[in-house]
Amino acid sequence: MNEEYKIPNHVAIILDGNGRWAKKRGLSRSLGHKAGFENLKDLANHIFDRGVKYLSVFAFSTENFKREKEEVDYLMDLFANKFREYINKSGNIKIVFSGRREGLPEKVLNAIDETERLTKDNTEHVFNICVNFGGRADIIDATKKIVKDVEAGKLDIDNLDEKTYIKYLYNGIPDVDFYIRTSGEIRVSNFILYQAAYAEMYFPETLFPDFDAKEFDKALDVYNKRDRRFGNIKRDK
Ligand code: FPP
Repeated sequence: MNEEYKIPNHVAIILDGNGRWAKKRGLSRSLGHKAGFENLKDLANHIFDRGVKYLSVFAFSTENFKREKEEVDYLMDLFANKFREYINKSGNIKIVFSGRREGLPEKVLNAIDETERLTKDNTEHVFNICVNFGGRADIIDATKKIVKDVEAGKLDIDNLDEKTYIKYLYNGIPDVDFYIRTSGEIRVSNFILYQAAYAEMYFPETLFPDFDAKEFDKALDVYNKRDRRFGNIKRDK
Protein backbone atom coordinates (compact mmCIF):
# COMPACT_ATOMS: atom_id res chain seq x y z
CA MET A 1 0.00 0.00 0.00
CA ASN A 2 1.39 3.42 -0.89
CA GLU A 3 1.17 6.55 1.26
CA GLU A 4 -1.81 7.93 -0.63
CA TYR A 5 -3.98 4.95 0.20
CA LYS A 6 -7.00 6.20 2.19
CA ILE A 7 -8.30 4.27 5.16
CA PRO A 8 -11.81 5.24 6.31
CA ASN A 9 -12.03 6.33 9.94
CA HIS A 10 -15.46 4.72 10.39
CA VAL A 11 -16.78 1.72 8.48
CA ALA A 12 -20.41 0.60 8.94
CA ILE A 13 -21.61 -2.79 7.68
CA ILE A 14 -25.11 -4.22 7.30
CA LEU A 15 -24.46 -7.94 7.72
CA ASP A 16 -26.98 -9.19 5.17
CA GLY A 17 -27.44 -12.53 3.41
CA ASN A 18 -26.93 -15.07 6.20
CA GLY A 19 -30.32 -16.66 5.50
CA ARG A 20 -29.69 -16.97 1.75
CA TRP A 21 -26.19 -18.33 2.37
CA ALA A 22 -27.72 -21.10 4.52
CA LYS A 23 -30.57 -21.82 2.10
CA LYS A 24 -28.14 -22.34 -0.78
CA ARG A 25 -26.52 -25.08 1.30
CA GLY A 26 -29.76 -26.66 2.53
CA LEU A 27 -29.07 -25.45 6.08
CA SER A 28 -31.34 -23.70 8.58
CA ARG A 29 -31.30 -19.88 8.69
CA SER A 30 -29.81 -20.14 12.19
CA LEU A 31 -26.74 -21.89 10.82
CA GLY A 32 -26.39 -18.98 8.40
CA HIS A 33 -26.22 -16.61 11.37
CA LYS A 34 -23.63 -18.86 13.01
CA ALA A 35 -21.52 -18.67 9.83
CA GLY A 36 -21.99 -14.88 9.83
CA PHE A 37 -20.85 -14.69 13.42
CA GLU A 38 -17.70 -16.77 12.67
CA ASN A 39 -16.91 -14.60 9.65
CA LEU A 40 -17.31 -11.38 11.62
CA LYS A 41 -14.76 -12.53 14.20
CA ASP A 42 -11.96 -12.67 11.60
CA LEU A 43 -13.26 -9.79 9.50
CA ALA A 44 -13.43 -7.32 12.41
CA ASN A 45 -9.81 -8.02 13.32
CA HIS A 46 -8.75 -7.62 9.70
CA ILE A 47 -10.59 -4.29 9.39
CA PHE A 48 -8.91 -2.99 12.54
CA ASP A 49 -5.53 -4.25 11.29
CA ARG A 50 -6.05 -2.14 8.19
CA GLY A 51 -6.18 0.93 10.46
CA VAL A 52 -9.91 1.59 10.66
CA LYS A 53 -10.70 3.27 13.99
CA TYR A 54 -14.47 2.67 14.23
CA LEU A 55 -16.37 -0.37 12.96
CA SER A 56 -20.16 -0.47 13.35
CA VAL A 57 -22.16 -3.59 12.50
CA PHE A 58 -25.91 -4.18 12.33
CA ALA A 59 -26.38 -7.40 14.30
CA PHE A 60 -30.09 -7.03 15.08
CA SER A 61 -32.62 -4.37 14.18
CA THR A 62 -35.65 -3.31 16.20
CA GLU A 63 -37.69 -4.80 13.31
CA ASN A 64 -35.92 -8.19 13.48
CA PHE A 65 -38.09 -9.11 16.51
CA LYS A 66 -40.86 -9.73 13.94
CA ARG A 67 -39.04 -12.84 12.66
CA GLU A 68 -39.97 -16.43 13.62
CA LYS A 69 -39.48 -17.09 17.33
CA GLU A 70 -37.00 -19.89 16.61
CA GLU A 71 -34.69 -17.54 14.66
CA VAL A 72 -34.96 -14.72 17.22
CA ASP A 73 -34.25 -17.16 20.08
CA TYR A 74 -31.21 -18.52 18.23
CA LEU A 75 -29.79 -15.03 17.68
CA MET A 76 -30.38 -14.06 21.32
CA ASP A 77 -28.55 -17.23 22.47
CA LEU A 78 -25.74 -16.42 20.05
CA PHE A 79 -25.43 -12.89 21.44
CA ALA A 80 -25.61 -14.05 25.08
CA ASN A 81 -22.94 -16.72 24.60
CA LYS A 82 -20.67 -15.27 21.94
CA PHE A 83 -20.23 -11.53 22.41
CA ARG A 84 -17.33 -12.22 24.74
CA GLU A 85 -15.51 -14.00 21.90
CA TYR A 86 -15.09 -10.62 20.24
CA ILE A 87 -12.85 -9.51 23.06
CA ASN A 88 -9.47 -9.64 21.40
CA LYS A 89 -6.79 -9.98 24.02
CA SER A 90 -4.03 -8.96 21.65
CA GLY A 91 -5.81 -5.89 20.27
CA ASN A 92 -6.65 -2.61 21.96
CA ILE A 93 -10.34 -2.72 20.97
CA LYS A 94 -13.13 -1.12 22.94
CA ILE A 95 -16.48 -2.86 22.35
CA VAL A 96 -19.66 -0.82 22.72
CA PHE A 97 -23.28 -1.68 21.99
CA SER A 98 -25.80 0.66 20.41
CA GLY A 99 -29.55 0.22 20.56
CA ARG A 100 -32.44 0.04 23.01
CA ARG A 101 -32.01 -2.21 26.02
CA GLU A 102 -35.77 -2.62 26.51
CA GLY A 103 -36.95 -5.83 24.90
CA LEU A 104 -33.60 -7.63 25.09
CA PRO A 105 -33.42 -10.71 27.34
CA GLU A 106 -31.52 -10.46 30.62
CA LYS A 107 -28.82 -12.87 29.42
CA VAL A 108 -28.04 -10.62 26.43
CA LEU A 109 -27.95 -7.51 28.65
CA ASN A 110 -25.53 -9.30 30.97
CA ALA A 111 -23.26 -10.22 28.05
CA ILE A 112 -23.40 -6.62 26.80
CA ASP A 113 -22.55 -5.19 30.22
CA GLU A 114 -19.69 -7.60 30.80
CA THR A 115 -18.17 -7.10 27.33
CA GLU A 116 -18.35 -3.31 27.69
CA ARG A 117 -16.88 -3.43 31.18
CA LEU A 118 -13.95 -5.65 30.18
CA THR A 119 -12.99 -3.46 27.21
CA LYS A 120 -13.86 0.02 28.46
CA ASP A 121 -10.24 1.14 28.92
CA ASN A 122 -9.14 0.15 25.40
CA THR A 123 -8.39 3.13 23.22
CA GLU A 124 -7.11 2.22 19.76
CA HIS A 125 -10.27 0.97 18.04
CA VAL A 126 -14.01 0.99 18.73
CA PHE A 127 -16.18 -1.96 17.74
CA ASN A 128 -19.78 -0.72 17.80
CA ILE A 129 -22.20 -3.68 17.77
CA CYS A 130 -25.74 -2.51 17.04
CA VAL A 131 -28.38 -4.70 18.70
CA ASN A 132 -32.07 -3.84 18.88
CA PHE A 133 -30.95 -0.79 16.95
CA GLY A 134 -32.92 1.52 14.69
CA GLY A 135 -31.54 4.67 13.09
CA ARG A 136 -34.74 6.58 13.79
CA ALA A 137 -34.93 5.29 17.37
CA ASP A 138 -31.34 6.56 17.83
CA ILE A 139 -32.39 10.05 16.68
CA ILE A 140 -35.54 10.03 18.85
CA ASP A 141 -33.63 8.85 21.94
CA ALA A 142 -30.97 11.52 21.37
CA THR A 143 -33.66 14.18 21.01
CA LYS A 144 -35.24 13.15 24.30
CA LYS A 145 -31.86 13.41 26.05
CA ILE A 146 -31.29 16.84 24.50
CA VAL A 147 -34.70 18.11 25.69
CA LYS A 148 -33.96 16.82 29.20
CA ASP A 149 -30.55 18.55 29.23
CA VAL A 150 -32.10 21.81 28.00
CA GLU A 151 -34.80 21.59 30.69
CA ALA A 152 -32.15 20.90 33.34
CA GLY A 153 -30.14 23.91 32.20
CA LYS A 154 -27.20 21.72 31.10
CA LEU A 155 -27.47 22.66 27.43
CA ASP A 156 -28.27 26.02 25.87
CA ILE A 157 -30.53 25.29 22.89
CA ASP A 158 -28.73 27.98 20.87
CA ASN A 159 -25.53 25.95 21.23
CA LEU A 160 -27.07 22.83 19.68
CA ASP A 161 -25.28 22.19 16.39
CA GLU A 162 -24.55 19.12 14.24
CA LYS A 163 -21.45 18.16 16.23
CA THR A 164 -23.20 18.47 19.60
CA TYR A 165 -26.11 16.38 18.30
CA ILE A 166 -23.78 13.47 17.47
CA LYS A 167 -22.65 13.36 21.10
CA TYR A 168 -26.22 12.54 22.13
CA LEU A 169 -26.55 9.62 19.70
CA TYR A 170 -25.77 6.13 21.06
CA ASN A 171 -22.13 6.13 22.22
CA GLY A 172 -21.42 9.41 20.38
CA ILE A 173 -20.20 7.48 17.33
CA PRO A 174 -18.77 9.85 14.64
CA ASP A 175 -19.64 10.22 10.94
CA VAL A 176 -19.53 7.09 8.79
CA ASP A 177 -17.01 7.27 5.93
CA PHE A 178 -17.70 3.93 4.25
CA TYR A 179 -21.11 2.23 4.42
CA ILE A 180 -21.35 -1.36 3.19
CA ARG A 181 -24.35 -3.64 2.78
CA THR A 182 -23.62 -7.16 1.63
CA SER A 183 -25.87 -9.49 -0.41
CA GLY A 184 -26.86 -7.12 -3.21
CA GLU A 185 -29.69 -5.33 -1.38
CA ILE A 186 -29.47 -1.61 -2.13
CA ARG A 187 -31.06 0.13 0.85
CA VAL A 188 -30.16 1.34 4.31
CA SER A 189 -33.06 -0.28 6.25
CA ASN A 190 -32.98 2.04 9.26
CA PHE A 191 -29.31 1.37 10.11
CA ILE A 192 -27.12 4.38 10.99
CA LEU A 193 -28.86 7.45 9.54
CA TYR A 194 -27.63 10.70 11.09
CA GLN A 195 -23.91 9.96 10.72
CA ALA A 196 -24.36 8.59 7.18
CA ALA A 197 -24.94 12.04 5.65
CA TYR A 198 -21.72 11.96 3.59
CA ALA A 199 -20.86 8.25 3.67
CA GLU A 200 -19.65 6.50 0.55
CA MET A 201 -22.01 3.59 -0.16
CA TYR A 202 -20.97 0.14 -1.37
CA PHE A 203 -23.31 -2.77 -2.13
CA PRO A 204 -21.42 -5.96 -3.04
CA GLU A 205 -23.39 -9.03 -4.18
CA THR A 206 -21.44 -11.25 -1.75
CA LEU A 207 -23.50 -12.83 1.04
CA PHE A 208 -22.20 -11.83 4.47
CA PRO A 209 -20.66 -15.19 5.54
CA ASP A 210 -18.49 -14.98 2.38
CA PHE A 211 -17.54 -11.32 2.83
CA ASP A 212 -14.02 -12.02 4.08
CA ALA A 213 -10.73 -10.12 4.37
CA LYS A 214 -10.12 -10.35 0.61
CA GLU A 215 -13.57 -8.96 -0.14
CA PHE A 216 -13.00 -6.13 2.32
CA ASP A 217 -9.70 -5.23 0.66
CA LYS A 218 -11.52 -5.13 -2.69
CA ALA A 219 -14.04 -2.77 -1.08
CA LEU A 220 -11.21 -0.54 0.18
CA ASP A 221 -9.89 -0.29 -3.37
CA VAL A 222 -13.32 0.90 -4.50
CA TYR A 223 -13.40 3.43 -1.63
CA ASN A 224 -10.03 4.73 -2.78
CA LYS A 225 -11.36 5.45 -6.25
CA ARG A 226 -14.19 7.58 -4.90
CA ASP A 227 -13.86 11.34 -4.96
CA ARG A 228 -15.32 12.61 -1.70
CA ARG A 229 -16.47 16.20 -2.00
CA PHE A 230 -18.74 16.77 1.02
CA GLY A 231 -20.91 19.17 -0.99
CA ASN A 232 -17.89 21.05 -2.30
CA ILE A 233 -16.73 21.15 -5.89
CA LYS A 234 -13.36 19.75 -4.99
CA ARG A 235 -11.97 19.06 -1.57
CA ASP A 236 -8.31 19.40 -0.61
CA LYS A 237 -6.86 16.00 0.20
C1 FPP B 1 -29.33 -10.43 8.15
O1 FPP B 1 -29.28 -11.56 7.27
C2 FPP B 1 -28.59 -10.78 9.34
C3 FPP B 1 -29.09 -10.70 10.62
C4 FPP B 1 -30.47 -10.26 10.92
C5 FPP B 1 -28.26 -11.08 11.77
C6 FPP B 1 -26.81 -10.71 11.64
C7 FPP B 1 -26.09 -11.34 12.75
C8 FPP B 1 -24.87 -11.92 12.66
C9 FPP B 1 -24.02 -11.95 11.44
C10 FPP B 1 -24.31 -12.52 13.85
C11 FPP B 1 -23.43 -11.52 14.52
C12 FPP B 1 -23.13 -12.03 15.80
C13 FPP B 1 -22.63 -11.31 16.81
C14 FPP B 1 -22.36 -12.01 18.08
C15 FPP B 1 -22.36 -9.85 16.67
P1 FPP B 1 -30.67 -12.15 6.84
O2 FPP B 1 -31.11 -13.13 7.87
O3 FPP B 1 -31.66 -11.05 6.62
O4 FPP B 1 -30.30 -12.86 5.51
P2 FPP B 1 -31.28 -13.04 4.25
O5 FPP B 1 -31.61 -11.65 3.77
O6 FPP B 1 -30.45 -13.81 3.29
O7 FPP B 1 -32.48 -13.80 4.74
